[in-house]
Amino acid sequence: MRDPSSMHGVVVEKAPAKINLHLRIVSRLADGYHELRTIFQALELHDRLEAVIADETSVQVEGDAQTGPVEDNLVLRAVRAFRDTVPDAPHARLRLVKRIPAGAGLGGGSSDAAAALRAINTLAGSPLPLARLRTIGGSLGSDVPFFLCGSPRAYGEGRGERLAPLAASPSAHVLLVDPGFPVATRDAFAWWDARHAQGPVGRGIAGMADGARGTGAAGGERAPPLGASEDFASLAGWARNDFEDVVFERHPELRAIERALHGAGAILAMLSGSGSCVYGIFDDPARAEAAERHVRKVMPAARVLRTRTVE
Ligand code: C5P
Repeated sequence: MRDPSSMHGVVVEKAPAKINLHLRIVSRLADGYHELRTIFQALELHDRLEAVIADETSVQVEGDAQTGPVEDNLVLRAVRAFRDTVPDAPHARLRLVKRIPAGAGLGGGSSDAAAALRAINTLAGSPLPLARLRTIGGSLGSDVPFFLCGSPRAYGEGRGERLAPLAASPSAHVLLVDPGFPVATRDAFAWWDARHAQGPVGRGIAGMADGARGTGAAGGERAPPLGASEDFASLAGWARNDFEDVVFERHPELRAIERALHGAGAILAMLSGSGSCVYGIFDDPARAEAAERHVRKVMPAARVLRTRTVE
């Protein structure tokens, strides 16, 4: 069942970062998780994962992101989860080179886990289709399935695991401003819960069955026009991130970054996921450069990364 061409070779996977172009929190579910409506967008910025067959599974992490204890690393958990499903899959020695800031709402850990699932599946001779990898990925983290959906932009419901691919716009310039501290997703949801104490605040929306166009309303508001090839300027017309209120309340400097990006000519500037990273999208590289200089001046402690959207 193993693909001989990968048996002795190194499998290399790119693990791209994501931003959320839109993020509505619809309700708190009985299990404590939250029902979301979101649009994921993949970025060129990526971590790199190398995997080779080995006698036991291990990971070596390099790079500058603070990722915590290696034992807790999602790539290890991903390989273990895969081997639970495919018991005769080989063990893998993994090398992860981190570039995506951690705790920043950029999906780095989730994307690494997705890359690990693709890599171990390849090393095992590709016994599982992408849909099965998405199911395993969903058990590891809510953002993992997006990185296994095969599309650089997708609309997500549920925890983000019910996905419909969306047409992507031509690649745009992105400035990522990492304020230098993380925000834990769990905390951000708890802050949102404290603000919206009573029960569900919305209902599910229709229109996902064929993966095409969403027609319902989330939280009583107009849902994004799904399936449309939206450029960033039209996305900016209705995009919002429900985490902003509660996260900006605790970290007002993030709102200041967002305003600075808008002021510098960003088409769309928003908190990504639950933060802490704020991004700005620019159609003009000169504007992106000027915005970078401006942010570095007013926010010297922040780390500014330049990248592009994947088209
Ligand atoms: O799924 P993941 O492990 O990335 O989620 C981290 C935490 O964020 C969860 O433990 C949960 O508290 C919260 N969460 C949530 N609703 C979601 C996704 C995450 O409440 N849709």
